[in-house]
Amino acid sequence: MIRHQPIPALRDRSVLSLINHPGDALREVLDLADGLKADRNWPQALEGRAVALIFEQPSTRTRVSFEVGIARLGGHPVVLAGRDMQLGRGETIEDTAKVLSRFVDAIVIRTVDHGKVVALAEHADVPVINALTHDHHPCQGLADVMTIRERFGDVAGVRAAYVGDGNNCCHSLMVAGAHLGMEVVAGCPDGYLPDPDVVARADAIAQGNGGAVRVVTDPREAVDGARAVYTDVWVSMGDEQEEAERLRVFAPYRVDEALMDAAAPDAIAMHPLPAHDGLEITRAVYHGPRSAVWDEAENRMHVQAALLMNILG
Ligand code: CP
Ligand code: NVA
Repeated sequence: MIRHQPIPALRDRSVLSLINHPGDALREVLDLADGLKADRNWPQALEGRAVALIFEQPSTRTRVSFEVGIARLGGHPVVLAGRDMQLGRGETIEDTAKVLSRFVDAIVIRTVDHGKVVALAEHADVPVINALTHDHHPCQGLADVMTIRERFGDVAGVRAAYVGDGNNCCHSLMVAGAHLGMEVVAGCPDGYLPDPDVVARADAIAQGNGGAVRVVTDPREAVDGARAVYTDVWVSMGDEQEEAERLRVFAPYRVDEALMDAAAPDAIAMHPLPAHDGLEITRAVYHGPRSAVWDEAENRMHVQAALLMNILG
């Protein structure tokens, strides 16, 4: 039976990015997530608690992993499609935050605009968890470092390469890895580099933990010595109108078997999914022996459950 003492550092806190959550807190979440994964007998830690899950964008993994995870902890997930809410007809984010806070114990939200999530957290009386914005995908970042740790025993000192668009998943991998002392090298084309402010903050955090975060433009240079090769879609939600240009620019950044062969001999392939065969990754890689993508997807449920147990106590 899992025994768990919530971490004070996360209690009642919102998680909008991972930048302000220290490594010790993340390690506690990962340890608890490992425990939840190993033991099907989950504690009823969310009994009597309700969590709103607002989706203004499509989702498979995030929705199912939160909904099932909350139910397995004895809690009540309330899934809300943005278009079915009064939010979709012009009710303000401030009023939505105040009203939902009277009904639920936490709010999980997926929307493109990061500012909207910040505003929701400002006006809500309950913690808010970012389930993906255009800028950050912290739950994915946590599942990513959990997956790397599970494969290699520890993440400190492990080099990971992120190849492709310097997007939300790139940012969250950098920040999560930085707190845990990883070396994260992003290989992205000019014009699609990760946000320099996020890179600088992640690198400063990493340096304090014996790691590093840096950016290059050559995908082969990025994967050199990397034990995890990570890519994500070239056209994120909100970028659809740029599709043609993006497919052209990112073509040299495809993660195929040749690029995997240029990484460390024991390198794993990672992708948050959904994947596009022959674009950012080939099916041979993500369905192949070096793939960690299915564990990475499963781990979403374990880290999110662990996060909620710590936030809600
Ligand atoms: N990786 C991820 O967030 O997947 P969904 O878009 O299916 O939730
Ligand atoms: N970068 C992608 C991640 C999807 C899980 C997006 O924002 O659409």
